[in-house]
Amino acid sequence: MNSAPIGIFDSGIGGLTVLRETAKLLPDEDIIYLGDTARVPYGSKSRETVIRYSFEDANFLVKHGIKLLVVACNTATGYALGELKKRLPIPVVGVIEPGAKNAVKTTKTKRIGIIGTEGTIKSNSYVNEIMRLAGREAITITEHGEKRFDRYFEIRTGAFVIFTKACPLFVPMAEEGWTDNEVTRLTVETYLRGIKDEGVDVLLLGCTHYPLLEDAIGRFMGKATTLIDSASATAVEVEKVLAEKGLLSDKKGEAMKKIFVTDSPERFLNVGRRFLGGNLKGAELVSLGN
Ligand code: DGL
Repeated sequence: MNSAPIGIFDSGIGGLTVLRETAKLLPDEDIIYLGDTARVPYGSKSRETVIRYSFEDANFLVKHGIKLLVVACNTATGYALGELKKRLPIPVVGVIEPGAKNAVKTTKTKRIGIIGTEGTIKSNSYVNEIMRLAGREAITITEHGEKRFDRYFEIRTGAFVIFTKACPLFVPMAEEGWTDNEVTRLTVETYLRGIKDEGVDVLLLGCTHYPLLEDAIGRFMGKATTLIDSASATAVEVEKVLAEKGLLSDKKGEAMKKIFVTDSPERFLNVGRRFLGGNLKGAELVSLGN
């Protein structure tokens, strides 16, 4: 048993979807959240920069005595998870492995769509994770060039066909609260038409912000496609790791939720209420990296 808090970081506000699911599943756990709102977005930044930011975020939380770190940002998970796991003294959970596991478990046709930021798609981490879960040796990958997709992989053993697409505009739309209007519908259609035409039965929402657009995306993709959201799968993984390591909290009473941001708490709170559904009380401004 361990009553120290869980630490969660994201490039900004979107990781609140992971906080929400973790708090729902583990109501007795204290949670400290850091949103690096001064430097968001990570999705369009280089690998080196995202790794440097991720270590600054992680070290801030480690100094607050966390027992486990959740990297809620898909881009940061894609680029920095391996290094963080190697160098931090506590267990680290990212959002990509739980999402990929869930996709592999759910698909029946083995045709999977993956959407995320430019960085997440470029890092190839979801594809690599699905390959790892499916058994890398058995699989040959052919890259078919651009087509309508950023990348198109065919796994020739017939195991999986994976279609990936970066959907960068979904992030500002979610931040703006444009989750289900005419602009959203057109943007969803423009980004996802190609993937839909390929008849995927699973679409992985590989970005913290995309669960907010779930209704619009789900309506466009239709009932035959299951949307997998990394947030709830990650919460399940956090519970599993805490249980395996004997780190679950035995505290009773209302758990503490503490939120830190690196830029204006006011904007964070206004937008964040959409992500957390009203339960967001306050956020404290901090500075990192010096
Ligand atoms: N948190 C990022 C992710 O999940 C989305 C926002 C950003 O680009 O920083 O990839």
